[in-house]
Amino acid sequence: MTAIATVILAAGAGSRMKSSKPKVLHEIAGRAMVSHLLGTVADLAPEKSIVVVAPNMDDVRREVSPAETAVQEEALGTGHAVAAALPNLAGFSGDILILYGDTPLITRQTLDKMIAARGEDDKTAVVVLGFVPDDPAEYGRLVTSGDGELQAIVEFADASTEIRAVNLCNSGVMAINGAYIKDLIGALDNKNSKGEFYLTDIIEIAVAQNLNCKVVVGDEEELLGVNNRMQLAQAEKIAQTLWRQRAMMAGATLIDPDSVFLCHDTSLGQDVVIEPNVFFGPAVTVGNNVRIKANSHIEGTTLGDGAQIGPFARLRPGAKIAEDVKIGNFVEVKKSTLEKGAKVSHLSYIGDARVGADANIGAGTITCNYDGYDKFKTDIGAGAFIGSNTSLVAPVKIGEGAIVGAGSTVTRSVEANALMVERADETQKSGWANRFRKLKTKLKK
Ligand code: UD1
Ligand code: MG
Repeated sequence: MTAIATVILAAGAGSRMKSSKPKVLHEIAGRAMVSHLLGTVADLAPEKSIVVVAPNMDDVRREVSPAETAVQEEALGTGHAVAAALPNLAGFSGDILILYGDTPLITRQTLDKMIAARGEDDKTAVVVLGFVPDDPAEYGRLVTSGDGELQAIVEFADASTEIRAVNLCNSGVMAINGAYIKDLIGALDNKNSKGEFYLTDIIEIAVAQNLNCKVVVGDEEELLGVNNRMQLAQAEKIAQTLWRQRAMMAGATLIDPDSVFLCHDTSLGQDVVIEPNVFFGPAVTVGNNVRIKANSHIEGTTLGDGAQIGPFARLRPGAKIAEDVKIGNFVEVKKSTLEKGAKVSHLSYIGDARVGADANIGAGTITCNYDGYDKFKTDIGAGAFIGSNTSLVAPVKIGEGAIVGAGSTVTRSVEANALMVERADETQKSGWANRFRKLKTKLKK
């Protein structure tokens, strides 16, 4: 099999996004578009993988690290961007797959088809991935001959009304024969309406040299190009549908799939039930038989088997929730470990804490973990019972099996199995309320 190199173009300004952030860093399912592509490309085990970036794109370099980058000094077009990667390909003689950083949903299977089509014969210089979108909009149009050979790609801005009527469009993905790439790219000019070096012009150049160019037709769903926020939202929708389908096929119940938002790395166990309106941020791993009730927001969290979460729970990065833990409504957990069977059922904030096995945290309990400068830890022993509306002022330790009376503000550590109550003495005056009301009524008259 021919060796493969991949070149991902990411140096464009992305001006249509109207953003201070490079286009390829905009995220789909919580992951930068360019990283989706790098993930897909990695499956092909290419001999070389190069990302073309602009000089000021240190953030893109960081995102793609350790992938090799080439710098396109000025964004003079997609053909110019490929030229910027040629020095990195010196000495490489296999096929080169060109991918656009703004077309993140392409699959490995489609890339395999492109590579296979390119390898059919040595005279095939370029294979282009085409598609027939519902709305061909401003995509480049593929002009083919009667026998299906590709003759040219005409950019929308340069296309006649006749050519604009063609609905077979250019996805931007190409497999180029390494034997010809240097000559083809070298022959590009910028005599077009945008004054750019269009990669797409290599087709006409190859055809003029009697080389063959072919089209492989792919699915619109995976070839959507993201140039503006509307298309970003469309790509997100496509990705979410796919992720939801995968989750359900793998044994999770999504009661209302359309209202559950998954992240690219969400991992769900078997017999997980997810109620409507649940959002997963990055790095969430869910065990088996977990129920996540409606309107919960979860990121950077592991959930053990049998845990019950929500409704309206917020689990933030560093939440480690063991088996059979119960987190109820309006509970926020951050950077805390809740051990097996612990319960935090209502209206609590648990931050920088350990909650031991089977401990029960009463409604309204707060770990006061921050003094405005530093964060401090709360450690709650196994089987402890924290009464409602307790403030645990960290650093503080509650011993195993201890009981803290409702309404306490705890600033000192509590021994194992002790009762700790911090509360002013209560006073009661019999009949006082009636006397008070009588007096007030009299004064009003
Ligand atoms: C491009 C194609 C068009 C195709 C469409 C598919 C060309 C000339 N046109 O148009 O035929 O239908 O994609 O989505 O190729 N880039 C650089 N350097 C540059 C310019 C662009 O690296 O100087 C990168 C961008 O970051 C982007 C990709 O190349 O990731 C495509 O550029 P973009 O400007 O989005 O091209 P389109 O107008 O979408
Ligand atoms: Mg584009």
